[in-house]
Parts: sequence; C-alpha cells; structure tokens
Amino acid sequence: MERILVIGGARALGAAVARRAAKDGYDVVVGARGLAAAETVAAELGATALRIDLQDESTIAAAAARLADGVDHVVTTGSAPHDVRAAELDHEKLVGAFTAKVLGPMLVAKHFAPLLRPHGSMVLFSGVVGWRPGPGSLVKGTTNGAVAHLARHLAADLAPVRVNAVSPGVVDSGAWDRLGAGKAALLGRSAAGTLVGRHGEPDDVVDAVMWLLRAGFVSGETIHVEGGARHKVG
Ligand SMILES: NC(=O)c1ccc[n+]([C@@H]2O[C@H](COP(=O)([O-])OP(=O)(O)OC[C@H]3O[C@@H](n4cnc5c(N)ncnc54)[C@H](OP(=O)(O)O)[C@@H]3O)[C@@H](O)[C@H]2O)c1
Repeated sequence: MERILVIGGARALGAAVARRAAKDGYDVVVGARGLAAAETVAAELGATALRIDLQDESTIAAAAARLADGVDHVVTTGSAPHDVRAAELDHEKLVGAFTAKVLGPMLVAKHFAPLLRPHGSMVLFSGVVGWRPGPGSLVKGTTNGAVAHLARHLAADLAPVRVNAVSPGVVDSGAWDRLGAGKAALLGRSAAGTLVGRHGEPDDVVDAVMWLLRAGFVSGETIHVEGGARHKVG
C-alpha cells in the first residue's frame, strides 16, 4: 500500500484529496497545523494524523522522523493569503504567504527527500491568479507563479521523484464560505470568466491530483484546472 502525506489535509481541498486517497486504497497521513482537526479527518478515514505547520520547520522535521520508514507521495495545499495592494504590504504577512506556498514546501522537500521512494512524487498547489494579474492579487499572484517554477526546479533536484503542481481556478472548496452571501457572486463571476461556463468543484482538482500521483512520465509540470480561464478573452 502506498503512503501519501497530505499537508493541509484537515479541510477544504486537502481534506478532499485525503478522502479520495483513502477511498483509492492509499495509506493516508493527514498533516495540519491543528492536530485536533487532523485527528478528526484521520479518524474518519482510518488514517494517521500529524501536526505540520509550514511556518515551523521543526514540525516538518518531526513529521519526517515519524514517517522514517518511507513515503510515496506528498501533497501540500498550504496557503496564507495576503490580498493587499503594494502600498499596504505587511512584511510579516508577506513572508507568511511565501512560506505557506513556496518556502514551506521547499523545507518539506529538504526533510522528505531522503524518505520519498524513487517512483513517488510531490504535488504542490498553485492557483490561476498567478496568471491573472490584478490590483490586490500581487502576493497571491507572485506566490502562485513561484510555485510553478518551484515544481520545475524541485523536479530536477529530486529526480527521479516527480514534482508537479496543480493550479486551480475558483473552486467551491469551502474556502469561500467565509464570504457569506458574497460567495455566490464570486462563483458566478468566476464561472463567467471560464471557457466552460462554471466554477470548479473539489472533485475537478482531486481528479488532477490523483492522476499526477500515477502519471509516471510527467514531472516539473503545472496542470491548470480552471476551465480555460487563462484563455478567455475579455
Ligand atoms: N479554492 C479555490 O478557489 C482555490 C483557487 C486557486 C488556488 N487554490 C489553492 O488551493 C489550495 C487549497 O485551497 P483550499 O480551497 O483548500 O482552501 P484554503 O483555505 O486556501 O486552504 C489552505 C490550506 O492550507 C492550510 N494551511 C495554511 N497555512 C498553513 C501552514 N502554515 N501550515 C500548514 N497548513 C497550512 C490550511 O489549513 P488550516 O486548516 O490549518 O487553516 C488549509 O488546509 C491553496 O493553496 C489555494 O491557494 C484554491
């Protein structure tokens, strides 16, 4: 049975990946910065729960020590948005955003490189805003763009272990519930901005992640799961 660690696995897309992986017969490890939340999902799946905070290297090192007998795949969904314009940038939040998406996954690679089995892979999470600049999306856009480069460079570094990224469009993952009544408007706008005329569902993204785990001839790529949003004119 292949072992998969899902960082950010306690909710939204991370939990959706963990659930599908359990259903597909993987030995699932749910990593999250809140151990209680990780344990709740892990209990549901018969999985293992670990506390992993991408902002705290010691938790990444401890998780690697717990999984020292080997890991086949690591998926990392971490994100710490800092959606402001340039004049309002906060240094600490800026570093936090880069750490969740870029620096943290690099440190995951550092600690898990010796444990990842040669046929295994890492899947990183980017996002469509990396290719759609706009006021207020400076940080999110740059970090998501950096993830695509990280996948390429990490793939070369960790080879033959494969490294790829998934770049979702707007997905009704639960992350937008915080908008309350505003969520429907966001989903509607995003649907209008795609070629397929709808917003994304978690299964759209999970399907891509699960394919990447098995796609043995694909490495260093970013798979765009956003209904053609980058190609829509106007
Ligand atoms: N949903 C969308 O529309 C959409 C669109 C484009 C890209 N994406 C990307 O897809 C990924 C998943 O998004 P989502 O929709 O599932 O919702 P999300 O709210 O963006 O999920 C973020 C995940 O990151 C985890 N996280 C944040 N900081 C962390 C840290 N320091 N250490 C470990 N985990 C940390 C969160 O866990 P906690 O439970 O601890 O907060 C949560 O599981 C993100 O990278 C996001 O940018 C999503």
